[in-house]
Amino acid sequence: MPKRRILVTSALPNANGSIHLGHLMEHIQTDIWVRFQRLKGHQCIYVCADDTHGTATMLKAEELKITPEVFITDIKAEHEQDFHDFLISHDNYYSTHSEENQVYSSLIYNRLKEAGQINVKSVDQLFDPEKNMFLADRFIVGACPKCEAEGQYGDNCEACGATYDATDLIDPVSKISGAKPVLKKSTHFFFALSNFSAYLQEWTRSGALQEQVANKLAEWLEAGLQDWDISRDAPYFGFEIPGESGKFFYVWLDAPIGYMASFKNYCDQTEDLKFEDFWDTDSECEVHHFIGKDIVNFHALFWPAMLNTSGFRTPTKVHAHGFVTVDGQKMSKSRGTFINARTYLDYLQPEYLRYYFAAKLNGSVDDLDINLDDFIQRVNSDLVGKVVNIASRCAGFINKQFDGRLAAKTSNPLIQEFAEQQSDLANHYENRDYGKAIREIMSMADKANQFIAENKPWALIKEEGNRDLVQQVCSDGINLFRMIITYLKPVLPELAKNTEAFLNVDPLDWDSLEVNLLDHQINVFKPLMVRVEGKIVAAMIDAGREKPAEEKKALINESDPITDEIEFDDFAKVDLRVARITNAEHVEGADKLLKLTLDIGTGQRTVFAGIKAAYKPDELIGKLTVMVANLKARKMKFGLSEGMVLAAGPGGKQIFLLEPDDGSEPGMKIT
Ligand code: MSP
Ligand code: ZN
Repeated sequence: MPKRRILVTSALPNANGSIHLGHLMEHIQTDIWVRFQRLKGHQCIYVCADDTHGTATMLKAEELKITPEVFITDIKAEHEQDFHDFLISHDNYYSTHSEENQVYSSLIYNRLKEAGQINVKSVDQLFDPEKNMFLADRFIVGACPKCEAEGQYGDNCEACGATYDATDLIDPVSKISGAKPVLKKSTHFFFALSNFSAYLQEWTRSGALQEQVANKLAEWLEAGLQDWDISRDAPYFGFEIPGESGKFFYVWLDAPIGYMASFKNYCDQTEDLKFEDFWDTDSECEVHHFIGKDIVNFHALFWPAMLNTSGFRTPTKVHAHGFVTVDGQKMSKSRGTFINARTYLDYLQPEYLRYYFAAKLNGSVDDLDINLDDFIQRVNSDLVGKVVNIASRCAGFINKQFDGRLAAKTSNPLIQEFAEQQSDLANHYENRDYGKAIREIMSMADKANQFIAENKPWALIKEEGNRDLVQQVCSDGINLFRMIITYLKPVLPELAKNTEAFLNVDPLDWDSLEVNLLDHQINVFKPLMVRVEGKIVAAMIDAGREKPAEEKKALINESDPITDEIEFDDFAKVDLRVARITNAEHVEGADKLLKLTLDIGTGQRTVFAGIKAAYKPDELIGKLTVMVANLKARKMKFGLSEGMVLAAGPGGKQIFLLEPDDGSEPGMKIT
């Protein structure tokens, strides 16, 4: 069979957070596919990168008081270490904030423009007048225009499910500064996706997508495509659009181009690897993208349309997967099931998770549930109980009784039977139906164990004249084990490596399935895998659990009940609490007062404070301060004031609000 030349990618993880189980499911799934192709002898190059651009990165860096460049460099190192430790075999892990990416992004944009597929339009958008920036929907909160639920984001309501424009929100505020956003005009650049309906109707049915995905896209295509806004205004962390000042590429424009950039960067370091071979329109190589179902529109609509217009080939396949859930629910920080790569690695072996994902993946876009009891049970019973058990039952006899020498021949029918599974298993791997592959491999392991159990080498060895038979049974067992490990090698590369050392062989590959080890010297057997313990899994969950605010609040309140209300004269008995200023605003008609909303752990308080000359409302939002929590509410001209905040100073601008350390929590009592 001719050698295939394949380029594979996983979606580029966002550079604003840590790698978690969801990313791992994707990278493990991709890595198994990549390792399988290599095992079969194909050329398979696997590249990825961090997706670095956008407002989120900019704000996160700002919060940490570092530049975005420093921020993304640090997080990239963390991501790379995480993937390395999960045995993900990227050939190159790059960054979208790279020269190559800027070159290809500009090139593709210019070609789209030359092709007449970029439209310029003026749009009205909400703008934060304090922060001087346009606000994406997720940075605007207000009350739902339909059900009036508070604290809803700019595009849809979590309470009633309504969708709307951010401009429809009641009393919208900027999440960044707390300011009231204003409408402002801006020029935006659009990719004319609406011109591509016919092209995409055909492309989405060309065999590049799973049927489930193509059907979903057909609904969207039916409804008609909108032009795609590919520009963002400064300030924005990204690439400036060529020829336009203060306009940047939207992060999703340059993100998929990041696949090309990472590959180009790899080509430049690798002999005999040419970018054009893989990306020219007449390429005979394959390009495969592995992605989650949430980003299908970017990969199966925008991306092929962009590539096609700019003179590059389109992907051979886009493989979409579902989402990871844990014990039937969305991953959750409070339940401890939002598990980061590092938290997992602090407690457990990466191959347990690789195996578990493999056992459950089926090539569909259905969600994948991690059931923790099932996880423990499968790893222990399949890997330790079945697979490794074959070797540990046979190796001792070969090592001790036969100086590590395997029998010189074999006529065991299982060997033939296992070899005949090759094309079946190859198909399952190729189709990403790893679950089916694992089930077949485990049934082989059952058969191998049954063969050993029936022949009882431990009993045979005690009888006279059976030495040859013992050697034959155990040698056959070891050859069957070798075949099983070869089939599992894409999933369990470390176990395979240790097995190769034990068997004293060159790296196992698909061709070596047919080559039995006869009259061959093996090494001393060392345990290849240990059982997972339930209490370790429980400890990992607990370590990853973000103790919820409620839990902390409950502790605070139980130990420190707020004392009864007191009169103003009783000021000496003040009950002081740490409070978070969740909102601050001017009071119409008041020259000294600001209206503060305070979160004191047990609930919200409204306090009118005479600090207007010293503080702007938006400087206060998010800050911690100290309040008199048991001060009797006072009716003031402008409303009810439910406490006092502590500030000192001679007055006017010289008023200093007491600001406790960031480490304290709303509701804590000050003693
Ligand atoms: N940066 C974009 C991808 C750009 S690709 C040109 C992005 N990043 S992400 O970090 O949010 O997600 C990266 C990948 O992880 C996506 O394919 C996404 O679907 C996947 N997952 C993120 N959370 C997930 C789960 N909980 N479960 C499974 N996969 C999930 O999207
Ligand atoms: Zn609503």
